Amino acid sequence: MTPEIKPFKIRDIAISPPLILSPMAGVTDVSFRRLLKRRGGVGLSVSEFISVEGLTRSNPKSKRQMRFYPEERPFAVQIFGGQPERMRMAAEMAEEIGADILDINCGCPAPKVVKHGGGSGLLKDHARLEIILKEIKKAIKIPLTIKIRAGFYDHTINAVDTAKLAEACGVEHIALHGRTKEQGYRGLANWDLVKQIKETVSVPVSGSGDVTTIEQAFARFRETGCDGVLIGRGAMANPWIFRQIEDAANGREIFQPTLADKRAILHEYFDMLREDMPETPAINRMKQLAGQFTRGLQGGALFRTSLYHSHSVDEILNRIEEYFEAIENDRPYFGEAGAPIEEAPELDSCEAASAA
Ligand SMILES: Cc1cc2nc3c(=O)[nH]c(=O)nc-3n(C[C@H](O)[C@H](O)[C@H](O)COP(=O)(O)O)c2cc1C
Repeated sequence: MTPEIKPFKIRDIAISPPLILSPMAGVTDVSFRRLLKRRGGVGLSVSEFISVEGLTRSNPKSKRQMRFYPEERPFAVQIFGGQPERMRMAAEMAEEIGADILDINCGCPAPKVVKHGGGSGLLKDHARLEIILKEIKKAIKIPLTIKIRAGFYDHTINAVDTAKLAEACGVEHIALHGRTKEQGYRGLANWDLVKQIKETVSVPVSGSGDVTTIEQAFARFRETGCDGVLIGRGAMANPWIFRQIEDAANGREIFQPTLADKRAILHEYFDMLREDMPETPAINRMKQLAGQFTRGLQGGALFRTSLYHSHSVDEILNRIEEYFEAIENDRPYFGEAGAPIEEAPELDSCEAASAA
């Protein structure tokens, strides 16, 4: 690999290539993660954030969110919460089910999460964060990692101090999404903070935010000296992004998916969803995510609209076939006659998922 993009280790776990599928609530479930892992180039997969309240009260949804397949390894479970005792119990559960790494969410801006001291709430309560990290560290043997934001408010940027505290508590990898909680998803992520953390701590450091191209990934590694790069929304739009960065890092010809690949991935994803969950949620998730894979394709907006209006498995499958039949044969695609363009809302944070 190139000098800037080379594997690193979280204790003895090789992250190779050093590219991480960023945790995304409502997106990076077991189907999405496997789909991406199979495309290649994913060095570490992380679960959606999982509620420790749910896990420790045997909520079936939270338990389901911890499932993973051996082919996903190395695999990290990410938990969120603000209660040290429950955080410890949930961490033990993640270790028991065989996760390779336990990650703590210190970034979610959702009021429901912050109100209970969890997510980005931990950035403004270092005393609580310290107790949680020390409790968990005593209880588990697998590596403990953390994903933080720049700070809580725009005027209280404290990512470097949070990283120092985490390292002192035995955290073995720090990932920074360089926006504040106040900022939400507005503006751009501050990668200079990734550089500052890298220069301050001795554990590996990765950066997150706004990487959607090979060039951006290379630039972030080069400019910050970070060990790893996380990609979230960019992977929804282009599931081959990890593979393409890995190709470039190895000096190989860069894989370019054909229309047949794009059609196949929709079928593969829908099959996995239906295997994993009941029909209605599988259809809903398909509507939300499948559209992302077709951004930028000719007639994509009309296709997404027609998916959005589908209500059964057969309808979804027929829409996929009609759409790809048309564009593969260079025929115009008209979607549903006369239907106004209407799409599933953009997925842009952990808010929606935590509100559900
Ligand atoms: C829909 C959505 C859900 C997210 N859920 C989580 C989450 O559960 N845990 C977490 O640490 N970050 C979460 N994030 C933040 C991402 O992991 C990532 O840090 C952020 O989106 C910036 O990176 P990107 O520009 O590559 O998407 C979420 C982001 C999005 C868009």
